[in-house]
Formats: sequence, structure tokens, C-alpha cells
Amino acid sequence: MSRPLVVAVTGANGQLGQDVMHALKKRGLQGIPLTRAKVDIVDQAQVMSTFLKLKPDVIIHTAAYTQVDQAESERDLAYQVNAYGARNVACAAAAISAKLIHLSTDYVFDGRANKPYDEYTRVRPVNVYGASKRVGEELVTQCHNKTFIVRTSWVFGKHGSNFVKTMLRLAKSQSELKVVHDQIGSPTYTADLADRLMDMLHTECYGVYHITNSGHCSWYEFACAIMEEKGLQVKVRSVPTSQFPRPARRPSYSVLEGMAMRLQGFAPLRPWREALRDMLQGE
Ligand SMILES: NC(=O)c1ccc[n+]([C@@H]2O[C@H](COP(=O)([O-])OP(=O)(O)OC[C@H]3O[C@@H](n4cnc5c(N)ncnc54)[C@H](OP(=O)(O)O)[C@@H]3O)[C@@H](O)[C@H]2O)c1
Repeated sequence: MSRPLVVAVTGANGQLGQDVMHALKKRGLQGIPLTRAKVDIVDQAQVMSTFLKLKPDVIIHTAAYTQVDQAESERDLAYQVNAYGARNVACAAAAISAKLIHLSTDYVFDGRANKPYDEYTRVRPVNVYGASKRVGEELVTQCHNKTFIVRTSWVFGKHGSNFVKTMLRLAKSQSELKVVHDQIGSPTYTADLADRLMDMLHTECYGVYHITNSGHCSWYEFACAIMEEKGLQVKVRSVPTSQFPRPARRPSYSVLEGMAMRLQGFAPLRPWREALRDMLQGE
């Protein structure tokens, strides 16, 4: 009988990383959690020596610099982590011939489309975070060929901070919430995404994938759904993005089409609203 796969997870304390660790356990796979304290992905020598020692079969690289607004004033740091840090992980994966699942983002697109972006649409990031993640995608594929690039969007889950938790927190202290209606995307539940990564890691179907929960909405509609699911009587008012100036520009439309998933035989994720209901149980 073949031994269970050993899977190392970077960013193991992050919101996706924690659910990836749970999913591995559920599937009976051996997960090695790598936090920043264990390995700083910016340190190339440390990354290489860590993976040469651990020799996992698969690396799921969720660690990233994810502060979209702050990235505008911390460009070098965003690139250190999202571009060169990802490269460091990919070089180490190549050295031990491990499969690599590298997480990326809908923010590689400019948001001018009016239909979902498939995996082969030309990228054109409109902010520093998106640009740094795009360079990460390029460097990773240059360094290692056993690579899955998984772009996801509007991530929410039980761990860490995210839009759902922010809305619930604000609903405790405010009777009205203003939320933008002119940014459209697909919310994605960390537990559902992690589950699909488990299907993927057993295959050799390398390439770029878009994985989100099914359907799409605006942030305003997402906020309304959160209030409805929790039965909260807070008024949600829709406002244009222009009323919420932020340091980083956001794509106004970043719905991702899961063409590669469909063509490679991976099941689509359930509708985002069902996933939201699940996540809110116990919140
Ligand atoms: N959140 C979203 O809405 C979203 C949307 C699309 C794509 N994504 C992508 O999905 C992936 C997971 O995102 P997430 O929401 O789970 O992010 P997260 O909660 O911010 O977690 C990121 C993790 O990366 C770690 N990290 C940062 N710099 C590091 C370094 N130099 N060395 C080692 N670890 C480092 C952080 O550690 P510390 O806790 O020590 O800081 C943190 O645990 C990322 O690739 C992200 O770009 C996220």
C-alpha cells in the first residue's frame, strides 16, 4: 500500500491555511503547518533548507502579503513576499520535485470585463497587490513545472479576518451600514476551496485554475445576505465606490469563470449563499 501524501502548508496561520490544514486531516493526509515563525518565505536559504529537510510530496503555498491598501505604500514588501517569496517556494519545490499549489487572486484582472474572466484572459492588475501577485505567478511557473496556480476571490472563512466578520462586528454597533454596489465578484468559502485543493493535489493536471464559489454578487448584496442569514435588522445602504476612497483601486468586475476546472473534471463549488449559511452556523 502506498504511504499517505505529506503536504506542507505555508501561511498555516492564515484564514485559508487553517482550513487547508483541517481539510488535510479530514482526508487522512499528513499536513505540515508552516507559519512565518517556522519559515519566512522571503529568506531564500531558509526556505530551501526547510524543504530539503521536510521533503513533502506537495506544497500548498497560501502565505502572502494580503493588505491590499497598505501595499500601495509598501510596494517593496508586497513584491518581496508575493513575487520573490513565491519564487523561493517554487525553487525549493523544484529541488525536491514536490507538486506546488500556488494561491493567487482575481485582482490580476483590471475589472473592465462584462463577462466572467477565464484562465487565459490577458491579465492587467490595477493595484500593487495584484501586480505583485501576478509577478509571483510568472516566477513560480518559470521556476517549477509541477505547478497549479489557483486564483480565487473574496475569501471568507471561520478563521482570520474577512468581510463577513467585519460586517457582523459593525452590525453590533451601527444601525445602518453603507456598502458599495459597483464592485462585483464571487465570494469564496475557505473550507470549500480547501476541499477542492485536496482533489487537485492527487492529480498531475497542472496549470492555471479559477476556483470560487458559484454565482456572483456585489459587496452590497453580500452584506445584505449576511444580515438576512443572521436575521439582523440592520439597514444596509448601497453606495458607489466613489464615496469610499481607498488607497488601492479595485477591479469593478472580477468574476472568475472556472473553465479549467470544468475541462479537467473537477466539480464546481456550491453557490456562495449556501457556503455563507454554512460558515455562519455557530458564528
Ligand atoms: N483574502 C482574500 O480575499 C483573497 C482573495 C484572493 C486571493 N487570496 C489569496 O489567497 C491566499 C490566502 O489568503 P488568506 O486570506 O488566507 O491570507 P491571510 O489570512 O492574510 O494569511 C496569509 C498568511 O501568510 C503569512 N505570511 C505573510 N508573510 C509571510 C512571510 N514573509 N513568510 C511566511 N509567511 C508569511 C501570514 O503570516 P502572519 O500571520 O505571521 O502575518 C499569514 O498567516 C493568498 O495567496 C492570497 O493572496 C486571498
